[in-house]
Amino acid sequence: MRFQAPRGTHDILPGEVHRWQVAERTFADLARLYGYCEIRTPLFEEFDLFVRSSGETSEVVSKQMYDFQDKGNRHLALKPEGTAPAIRAYLQHSLGAQGGTTRLWYATPFFRYERPQKGRYRQAHQLGLELLGSASPEADAEVINLTVEFYAAMGLESLVVSINCIGRVATRRAYGQAILAHLAGFLEGLDEEAQDRACKNPLRILDWKDPAAQQALTDLPPIGEYLEDESRESFDHLQTILERTGAPYKVDPSIVRGLDYYTDTVFEVHAPELGAQTALCGGGRYDDLVKEMGGPPTPAVGVGIGLERLLMVQEAFDLVAPKPPTVEAFVIPLQEEFSEIADNVLRELRFAGVSATVDFAPGSLKSQLKQADRLGARFAVILGEDEVDRGEVSLREMGTGEQRRIARGLLVQEMRR
Ligand code: HAM
Repeated sequence: MRFQAPRGTHDILPGEVHRWQVAERTFADLARLYGYCEIRTPLFEEFDLFVRSSGETSEVVSKQMYDFQDKGNRHLALKPEGTAPAIRAYLQHSLGAQGGTTRLWYATPFFRYERPQKGRYRQAHQLGLELLGSASPEADAEVINLTVEFYAAMGLESLVVSINCIGRVATRRAYGQAILAHLAGFLEGLDEEAQDRACKNPLRILDWKDPAAQQALTDLPPIGEYLEDESRESFDHLQTILERTGAPYKVDPSIVRGLDYYTDTVFEVHAPELGAQTALCGGGRYDDLVKEMGGPPTPAVGVGIGLERLLMVQEAFDLVAPKPPTVEAFVIPLQEEFSEIADNVLRELRFAGVSATVDFAPGSLKSQLKQADRLGARFAVILGEDEVDRGEVSLREMGTGEQRRIARGLLVQEMRR
């Protein structure tokens, strides 16, 4: 085959698209129940938007951007995530001008130039929430609870949310210094690039998978000891709410998140069934981002839910819903000159809300019944000479093979019976 989908991308084929539709519909319904409005932003944005928001030293910006110069010499990038574009739109269109909270949800593809592997793609898809205008831990809890409810609706009821508090800028700076001091000996043994990466964003070291790094981190005092009172109180309050609402959670000090805009609460849901890429979703508070992007100080919290990974975990738990039938009825005109009648039958069925199709180059009855079967049709509607002469059809139940003659006018009624 001359052409293949680009490395790290995948086609979503007719046999599996129903699983995506169910997830997207479930999320949209749930978000609506919680009062969130959908937002759709362009697939590409100014490159600088992501430098500003995700941070120059984040892997997403430093290594994974799909950026390009357009014909007008603008430096653009395919969106590597959904938060920055949503905030850009929120500010551009003054969505927060009325005050109060603004709740947004989205479903979007995103693009990261990563080394593809199971669960890690160059084009992947996210369902996201952004709640702007509230600093209350109740807002954090709402986003976490909605996420948990969504997974439960998708059949994943045993997942646990790992939460952490990474404090504000001053806390993180102080803690970063503490990490570098604690790891001084270990870092000396690393190459220059790794040292540079560590110094630019010391908190990310907590996330390093390397066992030697994890070993060197033992005995490091947790970030909790560095938190300002306000951050600690808010984090305690969040836990009280999560206990009250019954959300399954645990505090995990290793959760630091890969994007630089987070403040205070961060959270992820992991599923070991995914293999190397265990993060199902990630989110948290980003109280400085709106201001950083030129808006008024606006506390905010959100989440990004990886769709591919959700579907993978469903497979691991044997929760794959069978493909629904493509159509309910397959119409079979046994002679070419019956095509006009077939067309009328199709129209009547569709008008009554019954999905129906036909083969434009009909073969034998046997081969057409095979096609009806392949499409999962519940009924075959057969138009033979005798049926047409009498204004009737033969209605065949595909499951049982049972077939009966009925007047054409009673077709829909008979199907519903
Ligand atoms: P993120 O943690 O970078 O957060 O991505 C969210 C989720 O997207 C991950 O937990 C994972 O399930 C999925 N994901 C990430 N990269 C890939 C990939 N290469 N292939 C497949 N799935 C992937 C964000 O993007 C933030 N914008 C979330 C957020 C919203 N924070 C606040 N509001």
